[in-house]
Amino acid sequence: MRTIDWVDGAVELIDQTLLPGRLEVRRIATVEDLVDAIQTLAVRGAPALGVAGAYGVALAAKQHQGDGLRAAVNLVTNARPTAVNLARGARRAAARLPEGFDAVLAEADALRDEEIAASAAMATRGADLLTELCGAAPRVLTHCNTGALAAVVGGTALGVVAELHRRGTLGPVIASETRPLLQGARLTAWELGRLGVDFRVSVDGAGPFLMARGEVDAVVLGADRICGNGDTVNKVGTYAHALGARRAGIPFVVVAPESTVDVDTATGADVEIEDRAGAEVISGAPAVNPAFDVTPHDLVTAIVTDRRTIRLDRGERV
Ligand code: MRU
Repeated sequence: MRTIDWVDGAVELIDQTLLPGRLEVRRIATVEDLVDAIQTLAVRGAPALGVAGAYGVALAAKQHQGDGLRAAVNLVTNARPTAVNLARGARRAAARLPEGFDAVLAEADALRDEEIAASAAMATRGADLLTELCGAAPRVLTHCNTGALAAVVGGTALGVVAELHRRGTLGPVIASETRPLLQGARLTAWELGRLGVDFRVSVDGAGPFLMARGEVDAVVLGADRICGNGDTVNKVGTYAHALGARRAGIPFVVVAPESTVDVDTATGADVEIEDRAGAEVISGAPAVNPAFDVTPHDLVTAIVTDRRTIRLDRGERV
């Protein structure tokens, strides 16, 4: 099953706001509905957002012309700011607009297929690296959701976890719950359960302590944008895990497709971090709610993409 696809003239996506309680496919025929799905995180995760961006332009091309089309493309492109994939996917499809709807849809389908292939390549490459770094049966901690739900099928970091599981060389997994929207506790737990992986959920703040207590061999997670200097932008809470991993002396591995690597953005300080509504924090008090954080490149052991393994710990560059 694909997380997002184009089916009979519209976008179909798994509505991730309903998981793990209900597995429901939402059919989306307008740009406005797609933007709502993106902003409410019905569809989320960098690779899936890239595909959503491209199909959003296909929807726009069906619905609008002229100024209306330009406005609709802008709406999709800017629906969320941090994951580079969204704007990239939308711009790539929009470049085919002069050739008409069929060309736009073909471009979006090609992007979808590239993300499917990228997931498979990252799984193999990442599983090989973790085995090299940690030996057999590493106990890994992951954060947010980087599985099939964040891509089309497969996933990034969770694709690596799934591949180690398939090989029979995975230790027990910790899924960090990922406050406030619980992508770890709801979505990663759901995916790991379906895969039959031995896992437990922890509160986000427990991660560094579990590492200090020697219960984690590696941290493996995804990215929403990898900057030219290797700074990695990912779900808020990632930076704390990176600090914990450095203190515990364990590898911190980022798995993301080349479509998430953005060398035009020099450093993490140049990335717009999405600030979401304080109400999501559910404290009743005034809240600050950055959806992402920046992990400085010197805390990253390696970045695994579909084409490269970049050993930042050995001085290799993005
Ligand atoms: O706010 P979200 O759920 O879209 O954030 C997703 C993440 O931060 C993921 O870790 C990232 O997109 C990598 S997913 C393969």
